Amino acid sequence: MPMSYGKADPPSSSAKPHLAIRNPSEWIIRFAPLVREGGPVLDLAAGGGRHGRYFLERGHPVTLVDRQTEALLDLEPDPRATVIQADLEDGSPWPLNEKFAGVVVVNYLHRPLTENLLESLEPGGLLIYETFARGNENFSRPRNPDHLLKSGELLQVVLGRLQIIAYEHGIREKSPLQGVIQRICAVNNLDQSVREDREPQVLNLEPN
Ligand SMILES: C[S@@+](CC[C@H](N)C(=O)[O-])C[C@H]1O[C@@H](n2cnc3c(N)ncnc32)[C@H](O)[C@@H]1O
Repeated sequence: MPMSYGKADPPSSSAKPHLAIRNPSEWIIRFAPLVREGGPVLDLAAGGGRHGRYFLERGHPVTLVDRQTEALLDLEPDPRATVIQADLEDGSPWPLNEKFAGVVVVNYLHRPLTENLLESLEPGGLLIYETFARGNENFSRPRNPDHLLKSGELLQVVLGRLQIIAYEHGIREKSPLQGVIQRICAVNNLDQSVREDREPQVLNLEPN
């Protein structure tokens, strides 16, 4: 029986508004079933770990990385959860050696990490990324362009590296975090073709 990390036993939200949002993003929920069953998942800049917790409930071992890990302390007893406290922007080496079946990044952007994210995907691994984009400055934070994706930026990142399953860019109104968002789901299988024309394997978008 997996441990439950439901809404009843959340981490303290203290003064950090993102910790008050406990439900996983709909984008992550939508594509989580495409991650290899039982495969390891990385939740980067995990915050309170709402996405890592979701994957733990789905039976995945999960690595959660953040520079502040107090909100993840309750995960310590779970042998399937690995919490890594690391500053991802101070020039230190990438803190992970492992390859993942799923790499999840939500509401975080540090462009120099892009290559590390792609390199962290196992063959067939899924990148699920969602964060704010230009135009969000008209709604709320983040407003710094360093933290806002440009139109089509996530597409550019994965083009020729991953097979794109889905991409969206636009205004999100019905959410605790309104604003302009961009999101992508893409799979690391461009070189896994079994076809003569080298087209990559086609994923089942509606697995059980
Ligand atoms: C807006 S929150 C998103 C949290 C989580 N991904 C979610 O969707 O609920 C951004 C997270 O990035 C983390 N973060 C910001 N700068 C960081 C850095 N330099 N190194 C590691 N984590 C960082 C923050 O601590 C925070 O938890």
